Amino acid sequence: MCGIIGCTGVKCASEILYKGLEDLEYRGYDSAGIAVLEGGRITAVKKKGRVYALKRAAEQLCGTSGIGHTRWATHGRPSDENAHPHTYGGFSVVHNGIIENYAELKEELIAEGHTFSSQTDSEVVVHLLSKYYRGDLKEAVLAAVRRLKGAFALCILCSRYEGFVAVKYRNPIIVGAGGEALYAASDMPALAGLAESVAVLRDGQIAFASDGKISFCNFSGEPESLTFSPVPAAARGARLCGFPHYMIKEINEIPAAVKNTVHAFTDDKCFSVISRAAKKRGGFKDILLCGCGTAYHSALAAAYFAEDILGVPARAETAGEFRYRKSAAGAGTLFVAVSQSGETADTVEAARAAKEAGAFVLAVTNVPYSALTGIADAVVPVRAGTEVCVAATKSYCGQVAALALVIASLKGGSVYPRMIEELKDIESKCAAAISDCGVEAAARACASSSGVYFIGRGIDYPVALEGSLKLKEVSYVPGEGYPAGELKHGTIALIDGGTLTVAMITDRKLGEKTASAVEQIYSRGGRAAVVCASGCAPKTLLERAEFFIEVPSCKSCLSPIVSVIPLQLIAYRTAVILGRDPDKPRNLAKSVTVE
Ligand code: F6R
Repeated sequence: MCGIIGCTGVKCASEILYKGLEDLEYRGYDSAGIAVLEGGRITAVKKKGRVYALKRAAEQLCGTSGIGHTRWATHGRPSDENAHPHTYGGFSVVHNGIIENYAELKEELIAEGHTFSSQTDSEVVVHLLSKYYRGDLKEAVLAAVRRLKGAFALCILCSRYEGFVAVKYRNPIIVGAGGEALYAASDMPALAGLAESVAVLRDGQIAFASDGKISFCNFSGEPESLTFSPVPAAARGARLCGFPHYMIKEINEIPAAVKNTVHAFTDDKCFSVISRAAKKRGGFKDILLCGCGTAYHSALAAAYFAEDILGVPARAETAGEFRYRKSAAGAGTLFVAVSQSGETADTVEAARAAKEAGAFVLAVTNVPYSALTGIADAVVPVRAGTEVCVAATKSYCGQVAALALVIASLKGGSVYPRMIEELKDIESKCAAAISDCGVEAAARACASSSGVYFIGRGIDYPVALEGSLKLKEVSYVPGEGYPAGELKHGTIALIDGGTLTVAMITDRKLGEKTASAVEQIYSRGGRAAVVCASGCAPKTLLERAEFFIEVPSCKSCLSPIVSVIPLQLIAYRTAVILGRDPDKPRNLAKSVTVE
């Protein structure tokens, strides 16, 4: 959700910044901009659209210090004027986050004679800096940030300072050093090829980077220290490696994501951490799982199998809803926050609220140095590797594997080692699902439908939700995911010959029940298709289906890892058939760091 970058002490700042923005583009692609400092003058270029729209203009700039931005619009539509950097009175600023009190600050500044040139909340920052600057940069930065409410990661350029300033409050920023050069960026992969060592700024910290040196202070101006460590291997950027899109590359990486997640769970001794925490509390009274979007869907799947395996109340909730509910978690609660990025604002704040309520907070995340890991009592790593495509695929499968291991650890006994063995088997089942399924005809059917509905019962319901989300977000074909029994309570009114319903069946016991829901669709002139585990769907259902895809059957709690794969592939192929960019769908960004 907006990517920001800064550098100083480099040969050509614009070149470094442009390359960094390409790596950060998954965070937003409404507009991009760069500002550099050359001979005490700031020059900025910014353009609506993708980073490549900036290439020509960026090539005209050089300078040894600069800042850059790639935007996901919150305040003010995507346009050249609303693109960052915002430059005024000898300062230039890029911002990730939301300045909640921008309207009152803007009114005050306009009354004092400041002229604004955008509709963004962010522009107030550059005006505050120019207002408070009396020859001391640190004083101006401190005075400005103390006026801001909301969430902000900033990179600041000042025409009288050969370097940059980075500020962190509630949104991520990482600083890096390599030779004489210093860097800052919203995430680690953007620094991986540049910096040798990195440090993650904490909330309320400011970094001043100039002349090969970097110093830190808090918002009161007191000096702070930060330890640099080598760039973690997990932060290495990803490349397409011959695949046409990251989405299909990342689906192909699912077997490795599951395998590496299982290894990380054992290497990090997560079993002992979880069972010790449970023992200390005399067992958890309830389990609450939170996440957003795809992460919520893996949390929901885990809630189903947690109740099944453990027999304690377990439920999943979207993090944005949990935050504003009273007393949802207590001292006996195991609160599991699931997030690929570990930076999603709602999930991070939900975890904070659960911790304040006394719950034991477990973070299940793909990013080991994220904000979520800083809040959690314990971390269960997902080792899916860097996920570039905005639509989550391999991280979902890694999350379900990690969550299954969490639940098995709580159960203990022989359940945990058996789960490890089952997960080893899952890798080859995933590989079979990736290579075997007849996705092309399914994708053509979806591409020509006016709406696609996914239905499932039990553990298949969260997968139906995820299949629907995936198809909508990358292909823009409308639809919904439903519990199979719910369709007849309203949505069946939408069924006609133009719509397609995909029934998920991975549990033989529920096969006949879901088949009845499909009969009701046929009776209303609708079309239907089936995705099932082999041997689970009635033969008559498969004979009538517009298409059916079989995946290998497996233990119920792990079935979402395998059964989601055809749905991800269908979404991908539908997007390609319809000429969409599956890696960067419209209006979206990968890391949602605003509420
Ligand atoms: C959908 C998708 C999003 C994310 C959601 C949470 O494909 O990627 O729905 O799952 O924004 O993101 P994380 O997992 O980073 O908290």
